[in-house]
Amino acid sequence: MADVSNANLVTEGDARSVAIGEDLLAPPDQFARYETDVTGDYQGRARAVTRPRNVEDVTAVVRWCRENHVPIVPFGGNTGLVGGAVPSPQRREVIMSLERLNRIRDIDALNGVAIVEAGCILEDVKTAVAAEGLYFPLAIGSQGSCQIGGAIATNAGGLNVVRYGMMRGLVLGLEVVLPDGRIFRDLRGLHKNNTGYDLKQLFIGSEGTLGIITAAAIRLVPAPTQIETAFLATASVADMIKLFQRVRKDGGETISAFELMTDAVIKRVCATEEKVRNPLGKDYPAYAIVEMSQCGGTSLTDWFTDYLGTLIEDGLVLDGTIATNGTQTENIWAMRERIVESQAKMGVYLRTDLSTPISTMAEFIARGTALVQQIAPNALTLPYGHVGDGNIHFNVMRPLDIAPDAFAPVIRRIETALFNLVDEFGGSISAEHGIGVAKQAAFEERIDPVARDLQILLKRTLDPENLLSPGRIISEKWFCNAVQS
Ligand code: LAC
Ligand code: ZN
Repeated sequence: MADVSNANLVTEGDARSVAIGEDLLAPPDQFARYETDVTGDYQGRARAVTRPRNVEDVTAVVRWCRENHVPIVPFGGNTGLVGGAVPSPQRREVIMSLERLNRIRDIDALNGVAIVEAGCILEDVKTAVAAEGLYFPLAIGSQGSCQIGGAIATNAGGLNVVRYGMMRGLVLGLEVVLPDGRIFRDLRGLHKNNTGYDLKQLFIGSEGTLGIITAAAIRLVPAPTQIETAFLATASVADMIKLFQRVRKDGGETISAFELMTDAVIKRVCATEEKVRNPLGKDYPAYAIVEMSQCGGTSLTDWFTDYLGTLIEDGLVLDGTIATNGTQTENIWAMRERIVESQAKMGVYLRTDLSTPISTMAEFIARGTALVQQIAPNALTLPYGHVGDGNIHFNVMRPLDIAPDAFAPVIRRIETALFNLVDEFGGSISAEHGIGVAKQAAFEERIDPVARDLQILLKRTLDPENLLSPGRIISEKWFCNAVQS
């Protein structure tokens, strides 16, 4: 147990000192990497940075902070896209980085469960379970640096959701330090447990506002033994949605990814990223990376090759290629994985994470593009996304006729117009990235009153002083008004 009673770090210029065991504190010259997010869009100042080594340390810090009314922001791999883990600029929050809780406590192949600590890097977990012939299906661009705890706290999605669901469906149990310092723990890793409320679900996707996740029992599946990766082109986004529906009907559960990219997205990523190129060597209006995979069974290669031939004969697929080796597979995925980097090179841009019913995705993209053209006629729209989940990252780049400084208000206008369009389509303004601070106002504007009451009720019950990640998901104003009413 960490000794916090004798601890004595007084943060510079701060009337209310932070006193936490020095062995748990990062020196101020290391604060910078905890104060800016991966996109550079969010910056703040940390009051202190704690790096607990185990769940007892987490408990000790949480108790100390509660006694001293100091807010805490849990911090994982810093790969979130909505500003949730960055401290506020007022230098009032203690950042709690879970990086030192990075042990894989157990991999149980027979039961298909691993017990992992929050600070484990997702890729390390995937590699460790692969050595046992198992697969942990969460696949996201940031998996080389994101941490399991953060991925659970934000209910991460990504490339394989169409087959395996989001993080919410991959967690069998959690260990969580509550705002009062008690530990909620169920790491039995049971696949079925229908006793009372499913409390772990409260914390999955709570973005650090209800508790600090310190470990998890995660669900493992057998590693696919056959994987086919294709890059396919169609005459329109509408045809790509038709293609998805057809492949889903004929290939069923074998689909493990179906990622849409428009012509503009592929052109852009091939132009900016070294060694990324379109293997078709010709331009088409819409593309998809289609991954099919299975364990055992008859030859997937034979089936998929024949099937693709039929799709081309039918005229739905205009052109396509199936990777025949690892390098080709990597090259196909590079077009998708380098999109975020490629777009970031154009400076500040509008990044969205929208969802609509799958059946209306094409219409949404067409109407969204028209809306953007009305507001900023020369802006480049770069929509891409996870077709199987109805999830579109409808991103908009700055046109050269708008100065960088003048683009921020235009971004806000476009975002508002797109969010209103999402409402018209019965969609969501945040399909997989969460709310954080970036989507807080838009979330609050459209939440149903009953859902609003329930959200605040949960927050107030578990964290009555609003000490865990204040201002994320639920604004401080919303919290205070609810307390007063
Ligand atoms: C992606 C991230 C941005 O799908 O969600 O690339
Ligand atoms: Zn995504």
